[in-house]
Amino acid sequence: MADQHPEIADLLSEHRRFDPPAAFAAAATITDPGLYARGAEDPEAFWASQAGELEWYTPWTRVLDWAPPHAKWFTGGTLNASVNCVDRHVRGPRRNKAALIWEGEPGDRRTLTYFDLYRQVSQFANVLTRLGVRRGDRVALYMPLIPELAIAMLACARIGAVHSVVFGGFSAESLRDRINDAQATLLVTADGGWRRGAVVPLKQMADEALREAPSIKNVVIVQRLQGSPVPVPLQEGRDHWWHRLMMDAPLTCDPERMDAEDMLFILYTSGTTGKPKGIVHTTGGYLTQVAATTRWVFDLKEDDVYWCTADIGWVTGHSYLVYGPLANGATVVMYEGAPDWPARDRVWEVIERYGVTILYTAPTAIRAFMRWGTEWPGKRDLTSLRLLGSVGEPINPEAWVWYHRFIGGERCPIVDTWWQTETGGMMIAPLPGLTRTKPGSATRPLPGISAEIRRDDGTDIPVGGGLLALTRPWPSMLRGIYGDMDRYVKTYWSRWTPDIYFTGDGAKRDADGFFWVLGRVDDVLNVAGHRIGTMEVESALVDHPQVAESAVVGRPHEIKGQALCAFVTVKEGVHTSDVLAAELKDHVAKKIGAIAKPDDIIFAADLPKTRSGKIMRRLLRDIAEGKALGDTTTLADPGVVARLKDQYQGTE
Ligand code: PRX
Repeated sequence: MADQHPEIADLLSEHRRFDPPAAFAAAATITDPGLYARGAEDPEAFWASQAGELEWYTPWTRVLDWAPPHAKWFTGGTLNASVNCVDRHVRGPRRNKAALIWEGEPGDRRTLTYFDLYRQVSQFANVLTRLGVRRGDRVALYMPLIPELAIAMLACARIGAVHSVVFGGFSAESLRDRINDAQATLLVTADGGWRRGAVVPLKQMADEALREAPSIKNVVIVQRLQGSPVPVPLQEGRDHWWHRLMMDAPLTCDPERMDAEDMLFILYTSGTTGKPKGIVHTTGGYLTQVAATTRWVFDLKEDDVYWCTADIGWVTGHSYLVYGPLANGATVVMYEGAPDWPARDRVWEVIERYGVTILYTAPTAIRAFMRWGTEWPGKRDLTSLRLLGSVGEPINPEAWVWYHRFIGGERCPIVDTWWQTETGGMMIAPLPGLTRTKPGSATRPLPGISAEIRRDDGTDIPVGGGLLALTRPWPSMLRGIYGDMDRYVKTYWSRWTPDIYFTGDGAKRDADGFFWVLGRVDDVLNVAGHRIGTMEVESALVDHPQVAESAVVGRPHEIKGQALCAFVTVKEGVHTSDVLAAELKDHVAKKIGAIAKPDDIIFAADLPKTRSGKIMRRLLRDIAEGKALGDTTTLADPGVVARLKDQYQGTE
């Protein structure tokens, strides 16, 4: 792709470094390099000073209680997340500041001030209470990207209920499984949402899910579509319209005093088995780290207009669209739909319309923008931008440099932020007024965070490649996997000693101490910035009556980072065809969601296995990537691979 832009070729040289632009650095919030030293010398005191920026009812008695691998932060402290994100701003000059500037895909717009948010969060908290939701209960949210989603989250936080947001692109079955795992008692959804000009019929899918989700007693439905043809039958006694309930809900609601370690939310993410993990986050430590990192890494100022393009269904939306920015009293832009609807300049149009100053998006999106061409951003005024961010997957240097030049006009620092659903907040990222950056590197661990590159045997690799490990607990770390502590210990804390967290990522550190995260080393794929477990897709495929066996691997993809390549063997007597391949793709979309639809289905007479019967994924990856074959000596029948390879190349 670099060939298309000769202007960026010279910026791509191996040794190219980008110092913080002088004008940016002069006005930056963090210019004291001593922050790193303070974070390293006494991490507990350092994080306690960050926690002090929040509003607490009662202060903590202990900063960290660490019984590896179980951590408690700020024990004894009590606070409320909705008070920190809303109430404390309405008491002062931010009362009528825009909190959320929302734009729907069809072009409808709404702005909610902090005072609007305060009233609606309080009202919806009262609605939840009236419907019987109590402190500690789980509430599932399956919604489009509309303000009511943020309102519902904060309303849960206000009364001490635990929210579990399920991305609106997931299927009815995925929703059902997540509701059942968390035993949620109430579901908030919408009649539908808009995506690329089409309606996503959320209530219909929710109804399908609820046929086998008996824990749900009440459903609240936001009317998003107004007059669209999608029918929304209401089930008497169970289903309620949001706007009806809000009409007579009181305008104030006393917040619950939550313990720092009380659960704030559960968010499901894919792992190496077929069953997604309910990642548990608690209140005090989570809010401390997301609020602090929002300030540092985005250099957030009072008059910034901040836009994170992620959906709230993912952790980025939780931490850096809702909790982090709102805890800081920021103005947040929220856009419901697709970036190329109705045209490929929608993102740039939104930036121009609201004077966005900070943009946080994913490499997949940047690569798509690159492909669409510079004429689209060129049509719009992007001079309001002052900082750019990247998250979710490794950013290739070409995309970094393109972003820097064509979107940032060479005046905006880029913050490449590495973190995970499990880490809750950013872990490796630059401080934009201080840190020199290199395209493709997330630079170094943030102050108060410590990371290493390790060998399998646990020894540290000062310079070179290995496994990325986190070597000290951090405030926004996951506290567990909902209902499965064993899996928590096994997945994250058993690779080395129980005090060292295994990220699942491979990374290298260069001679300057910069970290380069290379991607997953487990059976988790990152497709267009979305985490997908290969086992989940395999289970969905073998659920089809004509499939005998399947193995799913990733292959590099120019835009999406990775594409899903599924090898499938069919049952005796089944005829393979393009029609069957299309049916299998749809089957996966129905079981999991469209994001997990395989890009390729390769029918195979057999899958390569070791003598002990294990599928050799490495070989399949090589075939999918079109590479020369690796070692096949342990293979039960080496002929299988050669036949597969011929066949795959035949499909290209
Ligand atoms: O492989 C890493 C990749 O995304 C994984 C985490 O995915 P998820 O929990 O869905 O959270 C995504 C949003 C934080 C990581 O294990 N990843 C995330 N950010 C980066 C990254 N890889 C390289 N560079 C990044 N900046």
